Amino acid sequence: MEFKRNILVTGGAGFIGSHVVRLFVNKYPDYRIVNLDKLTYAGNLANLKDIENAPNYVFVKADICDFETVCQVFKDYAIDGVIHLAAESHVDRSIKDPFTFAKTNVIGTLSLLQAARLAWDGQWEGKRFYHISTDEVYGALKMDGSFFTETTRYQPHSPYSAAKASSDHFVRAFHDTYGLPTVVTNCSNNYGPYQFPEKLIPLFINNIRHRKPLPVYGKGENIRDWLYVVDHARAIDLIFHEGKDGETYNIGGFNEWKNIDLVKVLIRTTDRLLGRAEGEDLDLITFVTDRAGHDLRYAIDSTKLKTELGWEPSLQFEEGIEKTVRWYLEHQDWMDNVTSGDYQRYYEDMYKNR
Ligand code: NAD
Ligand code: TYD
Repeated sequence: MEFKRNILVTGGAGFIGSHVVRLFVNKYPDYRIVNLDKLTYAGNLANLKDIENAPNYVFVKADICDFETVCQVFKDYAIDGVIHLAAESHVDRSIKDPFTFAKTNVIGTLSLLQAARLAWDGQWEGKRFYHISTDEVYGALKMDGSFFTETTRYQPHSPYSAAKASSDHFVRAFHDTYGLPTVVTNCSNNYGPYQFPEKLIPLFINNIRHRKPLPVYGKGENIRDWLYVVDHARAIDLIFHEGKDGETYNIGGFNEWKNIDLVKVLIRTTDRLLGRAEGEDLDLITFVTDRAGHDLRYAIDSTKLKTELGWEPSLQFEEGIEKTVRWYLEHQDWMDNVTSGDYQRYYEDMYKNR
């Protein structure tokens, strides 16, 4: 079958990537979606069970840093668009192991950029390299009602955000130097189904269920701006198709929460859905040593995306949190599997035997 487009999604077995792959595979049966993922601890093909046999879906197990293989994938599948999500994504891990973050996030992105440049060889018409970044590259805001805009100066503080910032600079450099048709988006914290349970929301839902302590860093005063992951995927779809080359768009839902307040909402919602007395588990909150260099506040101004492309989040936070808690409680098998590490062994064996 001749496909209208051949899109390489990197990191499609991860949290956000799996939602992007699902959206594109289902919405665009005339596009071929090639999911390239190394399947690190954060990658899980069980996140894509529902579409794994779709005729327009292909999975390639590879490392984005493996330049030869990436070039071969561009050739084999006549790739004309890239949606690049593969990354090491957890701040706490980056504090322990900054090298892996520099390698995957910086060198891996450079490998993809160079492969795209060579494969497309100046024939930019109909091509797009879309790089998914984070609001964390902008640094931290004070508690003063200010926002990150597309022109806020980069001031990363963690090894994670420093590596993401560096990759963003490479993407823009490839646009400015070679003319590569790039687009970059910086999104706020995502939440929803299939997030690896080392991140705040799935970790805490699982701990509440098992009545384990909830380790709140510092005093829980830090603020994050939360967006439902499916709304991020919708924004990625819109920007991939309608964003302008060389542009940056911020994505966020104007939805700031102090960590401690968010944790209380999670406890009440989880308690209620488990049939416990609402708030019964508030005493699980345990204040622990703060994260080193912990950014105080993130808040995204997504006015440009709304004004220029008409995007708005579809879900209110209360509705999103309810859906999310319900999903994790109903998918305890997924959670148990991911926390046991069995899924990695299972898929390693599966691919060895193909
Ligand atoms: P994740 O950690 O859940 O998934 C990352 C995926 O990338 C995994 O499937 C993993 O196997 C894959 N991967 C890692 N290293 C790889 C490599 N060397 N080669 C190929 N694949 C590799 O991450 P996520 O939360 O889904 O984030 C996806 C992207 O979105 C990242 O670039 C992240 O910086 C960005 N982002 C995340 C958030 C958030 O709140 N989660 C917010 C804004 C931006
Ligand atoms: P996280 O989900 O790791 O996302 P990010 O660091 O990329 O914003 O953390 C969200 C917030 O929750 C952040 O301020 C750190 C805090 N946090 C805790 O207080 N305890 C935890 O166990 C975790 C994982 C995070």
